[in-house]
Amino acid sequence: MITVAGFNTAIDHLFTVDALVPGTVQRAAQAEPYPGGKGLHVAQTVAALGERVQLVGLVDAAHRNLVARRMAERGVLFHGIEIEQPMRSCIAVRERAGRVTEILGPGPELGPAEREELLRAWWHCAEESVLLVLSGSLPRGFDADAYASMVRQAAGRPCLVDASGEVLRHAAGSGAFLLKPNRDEATELAGRPVRTPEDAAALARALHAQGIVLPVVTLGAEGAVGFDGRSVWHASVTLERSANVVGSGDCLLAGLAVALKRGEPMAEALRLGVACGAANAMDEETGYVRRERVLALQPQVQVRRMDS
Ligand SMILES: Nc1ncnc2c1ncn2[C@@H]1O[C@H](COP(=O)(O)OP(=O)(O)OP(=O)(O)O)[C@@H](O)[C@H]1O
Ligand SMILES: [Mg+2]
Repeated sequence: MITVAGFNTAIDHLFTVDALVPGTVQRAAQAEPYPGGKGLHVAQTVAALGERVQLVGLVDAAHRNLVARRMAERGVLFHGIEIEQPMRSCIAVRERAGRVTEILGPGPELGPAEREELLRAWWHCAEESVLLVLSGSLPRGFDADAYASMVRQAAGRPCLVDASGEVLRHAAGSGAFLLKPNRDEATELAGRPVRTPEDAAALARALHAQGIVLPVVTLGAEGAVGFDGRSVWHASVTLERSANVVGSGDCLLAGLAVALKRGEPMAEALRLGVACGAANAMDEETGYVRRERVLALQPQVQVRRMDS
């Protein structure tokens, strides 16, 4: 079993318009609410790849059915901790030409009792898992070192962490098994621009020296770079067109989690991860892949060793 902490579950509202004109009233051709959040994306992608997975996250009474139904349909065991405040909501406006504008709500602010309940559910689920994923923003009320503490308390279970800002900085010093910053997060963490695979390799080596067993830096269409302590690997696949790249990092993380759970080495984990990231980019939906698409992309992924 893989367990995902995606505490800040969201309800995403997707509006489709011809072209967004700020400051005007516009009618959407399509408007649809659906469950979202980075941890939820990871969990549903892990399930799509055929591994058992559970997700621990917040939910409110108004959306419990929507989230539970979607997760059940997708094969994810959902442990929803119900709160009084409305759960986080996010708006995405997609224009006909493909551009997406996102507005992310701040989400609820949790008190000590709610945080305690969430963490209790998390530890209960983590105990029966071989691999843990901590992904996305923490609900307000948690300290920035919450992921780092969860990693330290995981009693040797490998933790894969995807975070940003201060939460990422703390996680970098936590001895997490895998850390997955994207280009912007890597730049912030390194304190200098991370643009090329060579820049990414230098950061991956530095993170490894700091105690991260398998650091992976993602570079959007340029793929991903990972270090396994011996070699630096670069994996990428070229797509003719992409429909929606939002959530590609979440899907890549799911691919890494599945491959590592199956005992694959870094090079093969990157291959599956990159295939998942690209599969997400090819479809309209955010943070989900179809298994057939991943399997078709996998052999097209170029994996090269950078240091020989
Ligand atoms: N246009 C693309 N073409 C091919 N592969 C892509 C493309 N965009 C993303 N990918 C794949 O997905 C992976 C993750 O993408 P990216 O670096 O954009 O993650 P991210 O910024 O963390 O995304 P998010 O946080 O929205 O999930 C990349 O490493 C790459 O393998
Ligand atoms: Mg990301």
